[in-house]
Amino acid sequence: MRKTIKNRFFLIALSLLLLIGLTACSSPESKSETIEKAPKTETKSETKTEKKTETKSETVKETPQNITNEELPNVSIIATGGTIAGVAASDTQTTGYKAGEVAIETLLDAVPEVKEIANITGTQLVNIDSSAMTNEVLLNLAKEVNKQLASDSVAGIVITHGTDTIEETAYFLNLVVKSEKPVVLVGAMRPSTAISADGPLNLYNAVAIAASPDSKGHGVMIALNDKIGSARDTTKLNTTAVNAFDSFEYGDIGNVQGSKPYFYNKPSRIHTSESKFDISNVTELPKVEILYGHGNDSRVLVDAAVKGGAKGIIHAGTGNGSVFPETQEGLVDAQKKGVVIVRASRVATGMVTHEATDDTNKFVSSDSLNPAKARILLMLALLETSDPVKIQSYFNNY
Ligand code: SIN
Repeated sequence: MRKTIKNRFFLIALSLLLLIGLTACSSPESKSETIEKAPKTETKSETKTEKKTETKSETVKETPQNITNEELPNVSIIATGGTIAGVAASDTQTTGYKAGEVAIETLLDAVPEVKEIANITGTQLVNIDSSAMTNEVLLNLAKEVNKQLASDSVAGIVITHGTDTIEETAYFLNLVVKSEKPVVLVGAMRPSTAISADGPLNLYNAVAIAASPDSKGHGVMIALNDKIGSARDTTKLNTTAVNAFDSFEYGDIGNVQGSKPYFYNKPSRIHTSESKFDISNVTELPKVEILYGHGNDSRVLVDAAVKGGAKGIIHAGTGNGSVFPETQEGLVDAQKKGVVIVRASRVATGMVTHEATDDTNKFVSSDSLNPAKARILLMLALLETSDPVKIQSYFNNY
């Protein structure tokens, strides 16, 4: 009897041990997942602290990679943040993440292949969401680009950037960079942590463009989704899709296939070394506001812009740059106070034609520049003059 009880106790203990063992074995995945995720969160908050310092100080940090192959061109990468450096909580999260989180070293680690086509030097200028881009950063970036391109050893420059304002920064550089060497802006629509993140291949393509002698003389370029667009004509068309950028009726200037850029078009408007705009001694850009036209509009925002110290106003009008009557009165009054008025359009394609009424009102028409790019050109034009006739000639030629 005692023996039977002992045996039963032994059997129960054995079953319990087996059960514990089985439970432990059945959930190793969820356990290791939690373990894997935990350090990810830690890394994220560590990066966040780093990011803040970088953004605030905006200091330029050189990060030479330990690769020097005399036969390869030297490409400098200047990192400014954006989704390409964005981090999400999971690999399926493609919206609502934080842009401008990971540093340039991490971006480069994701594409070791770039070292096979160029000697890379990295500079972290800022690490921001590009919706937070300021004129101060634009000026610092342009000066850094001009400084680096002046060196014979630099073949080309890649700038990593958020896609939200990449076209504005690209167009600004297109007007103030004093070199024929390639300058390529690159971003991504999916954060670096996403499944099928588009950043690594975009970055690889951008380096391939910057490294190629064929890329010289095309002005500043935007490299996304295998396409090469000109800074002037490329614009963001979709809020979230990977193929978010296009150049509408003016067309892309080329594409990248298998590490090689192929060019089909050359931008015809003045850019880079031919441009008259020089920011080498500029520390501040004139304030230019963009106002969005709509039915039942008013002059409230025009008057507020003038009161706020705007030196120029871009009016993103309806259709061919049309303006609501009361808003028009506000713009005419603003012009009489010396504010330069540019009629642009909220419509995605087509030009805003110059009309006889523009001459009467002393207004400028935006040609085919969208309102965001018209702001860039007007800021630079205002460094030179506030004469609407002269400024119109810039809009006709740049
Ligand atoms: C940004 O512009 O910084 C965020 C969005 C993006 O890069 O796609």
